[in-house]
Formats: sequence, C-alpha cells, structure tokens
Amino acid sequence: MSAEAKDPAAAARGAELASDFTVSLRYDRRMYREDIAGSIAHVRMLAKQGIVAEVDADTIAEGLHRIETEIEAGEFTWRPDLEDIHMNVEARLYELVGDVAGRLHTARSRNDQVATDTRLYARKVAAGATRSVRALQGVFLDLAGAHSDAVLPGYTHLQRGQPVLLAHHMLAYFEMLERDAGRFQAAGRSANVLPLGSGALAGVPYPIDREFVARELGFTAVSRNSMDAVSDRDFVLDFVSASAVCMMHLSRLAEELILWSSDEFGFVRLADSYTTGSSIMPQKRNPDFAELVRGKTGRVYGHLTAALTATKGLPLAYNMDLQEVKEVLFDTEDALLPSLAAATGMLESARFNTGRMLQAAEDSYVLATDIADYLVAKGVPFREAYMAVAELTEKAAAAGMRLSDLSLEDYRATSAHFEADVFGITVQSSAAARDVSGGTAPARVEKALEEARARLKEATEAAGTG
Ligand code: ARG
Repeated sequence: MSAEAKDPAAAARGAELASDFTVSLRYDRRMYREDIAGSIAHVRMLAKQGIVAEVDADTIAEGLHRIETEIEAGEFTWRPDLEDIHMNVEARLYELVGDVAGRLHTARSRNDQVATDTRLYARKVAAGATRSVRALQGVFLDLAGAHSDAVLPGYTHLQRGQPVLLAHHMLAYFEMLERDAGRFQAAGRSANVLPLGSGALAGVPYPIDREFVARELGFTAVSRNSMDAVSDRDFVLDFVSASAVCMMHLSRLAEELILWSSDEFGFVRLADSYTTGSSIMPQKRNPDFAELVRGKTGRVYGHLTAALTATKGLPLAYNMDLQEVKEVLFDTEDALLPSLAAATGMLESARFNTGRMLQAAEDSYVLATDIADYLVAKGVPFREAYMAVAELTEKAAAAGMRLSDLSLEDYRATSAHFEADVFGITVQSSAAARDVSGGTAPARVEKALEEARARLKEATEAAGTG
C-alpha cells in the first residue's frame, strides 16, 4: 500500500471531519480537576519509586497546579485539535515546564488515565446525587410534619379509592427516594476502584506502587485485571441506571404535581417562580418545571440504552466507543441534578390546599370499603357486604347524593344489618382504622415520620463523617 493518499482532497476532508468527529474536549474538559489530580498522584508515585527524579516530579506537579488555576480563571486556551482533556493538559504542561513534562506519562497510558478520571468524576457525581436526594427527602418529611392531619382521597387507576393522610402520601415518596439514595451510594462504590497501573491494557513494566496512588486519590481498592480495568465502564452504567430509576420517581412526582395543580384537582398551588404564563391565555399557570422533569426522564432512559448499546459489542480491551459513554455520564448528570433541584424547589414553595383535598374525599364514595367492613363486623360475609354497598353506592350516585345523604331506610333496604351508627364512619375514622404497620392511621404515620427522620439524620451524618 502506498503512503500517499489516493484522493488528497478526500483525505483533507477526513482530517477536518476528524477534528469534530473524534474530539471529546467539548464535554470531557469538565473532568479537568480529576485529570490533574490523577496526574499529580501518578507523578508523586513515580518519584517515590525512583522512576523519575524528585525535582522533576516537583516541577511537573507545580505546572499541573498552575494549569488548574488557569482553567479556573478562564485563562486556559482550549485546543480541540488535541482531542481531549488529557492531551490539552499535557500540551500546556510542555509549554510551562519544557521537556521535563515528557516524564509525566511514564508508566501510564491514556487508556488507564481516562478510566481513572472518569471513575473519579463518577464517584463525585454519585455523591452529589446522593446529597440532592437526601435534601429532597428532607422536604418530604417537612411537608409530612406540617400537614399531619390533612386527609385526601387516595387513588387507584386515578379514581378515588380510600382516604389517606397527606403525610402518608408524602412518606411514600420518601421511601422511593430512600431506595434511590442506596442505588447512588452503590454506584459511588462501584466507581471507587483505581485502574491506573493497567497501562494500555497489559500493565506496565515499571516498579509502580498502585496502592499509594489509590490512597492519594481516595480509592478504596485497586483493579485486579488490567484488561478489564481499561475497558470497564460498568460504574457509569450503575450511575445511569440509578439515575433512570430516580428520574422515573421524579417523573411520577412531577405528574402528580401537574394533575394536582390543575383546576380539576386544585390540591396544590405551585409558586409563581415554578410556573409560566401563556403568550395568549392570560389565566394560565403552566407547570413548566414539572413538565421538564417529566420530559428529561426520557432523555436519561435514552442514555442508559445508549451506554448499554455502545459497550455491548466491544472486544477487549479499550476501544474508542468508550468515549461516547463519558458523554452519557455528563448528560445524565445535567438532567438529573437540576431535576432533583427543581423537585425540591417546587415542593418547598408549593401551597397545599388541604380544604380542597378533604372536600374531594367527602364528595366521593371513598368510604364504601369502610361501610362494607362495617357489615363484616356485624357478621356479614365480605362478598355479601360488598354487594350491598355496591347497590347503595349506585343508588346514591343515581340520585346525585353522597352516601352520608342517604337515609337509614335506604341503607336498610340493601342490608338489614345497618344501624344508625353507620353514619359515624368518616374519612377520619376510615384512615384511623388502617392501624397496621405501613398503614395510614394517624398514629402509624406519626411513628413512620419519626422513624424516617431518624433514618435521614443517620444517613446524612454518616455521609458527613464518611
Ligand atoms: N479521548 C479518549 C477517551 O475519551 C481518551 C483515550 C484514548 N485512547 C486511545 N488509545 N485513543 O476515551
């Protein structure tokens, strides 16, 4: 094969395309801190092991610190022609300290370097996501505490089912988020392994000290197989899948806020700062933030599929496809963290209309189950009781009445076991009757709230010291 390009013009177009197509700088520059920290730990280790001179390591570390300062001050000249963050930092290091810069990349490859940087970054984002989830959990607890006796209809199939405490409803979200926090912590642990020392794929022929580098960077373990280490992005998949589930929860919350803030429900009024008007309909208060949280969920699901698909056909070890996975991590971060912040802000500033909730419960047939249970207490088999109350409910609905508007005679026409005390059944007594663990009885909910507060306190304290 000749070294000359067959068609020089096409080759030139290829080079131009390459500058866009292969460049990751646009997105991976956000890992500059991780890249610099990784390089400093690496060069310190090289000096400690006598692989480079102490004085050269000092020069390199100083240069790297200076680069960090330049980037933070916005004074760094980014060069997309150098492809990525790693080459940008290294090229600038040459400019700053001269040829000694060439010693930094001893016993290292960009393959174990990018894996290290990405793990440091994923670990940080997972910790940030955990903190944001904890903050949102705290808001749910505050809301539950502030509305301890509000009752609303609980829904199944979006039809009014049985009365529940608003606090019980809030605590349901606390539980979803509790599982999310656990998943983000697990994603952080799966990222917390040092790949550096794997070289391009086979390890490096120098007497390095990987444990030292791991300690410097706060990794809790070193990878056990160099080929796996440079091609493993499971930790990104762990984070993105945890994010996908968390977004699903946030999307459900968003959907409820959208429904609840409609005139049809009227259960909540979102703060002005979380709604927007219409350019033509002056009365509108569109729940844009909630809708965007719901909308961004699809984007995160897409990222999970993208990352799974990008990695499924890769032969060992490193392949450039993995560069795509990095972007997935960043864009997931950009969808998830603002969504968590939006959910937190929306709830903190929302006003709940508990009068409207109570009215919705009372103007409905949510006590039907309780009335059937009343008959069961009088010895009627449940299925028979169910039939009697179904008939009663139909009668009331046909007359446009509530169950409490019917006369005792109406009741007795469906079952002779009804007595006047049936009118003692209220939405409050219905909730109070659900006195089982996990149930909506006020005393149970109060206890659940106390336990949730203790759990959250313990988790945030452990995160603070850990
Ligand atoms: N820009 C690359 C990435 O993000 C860095 C590693 C490239 N290694 C290589 N041999 N081309 O994955």
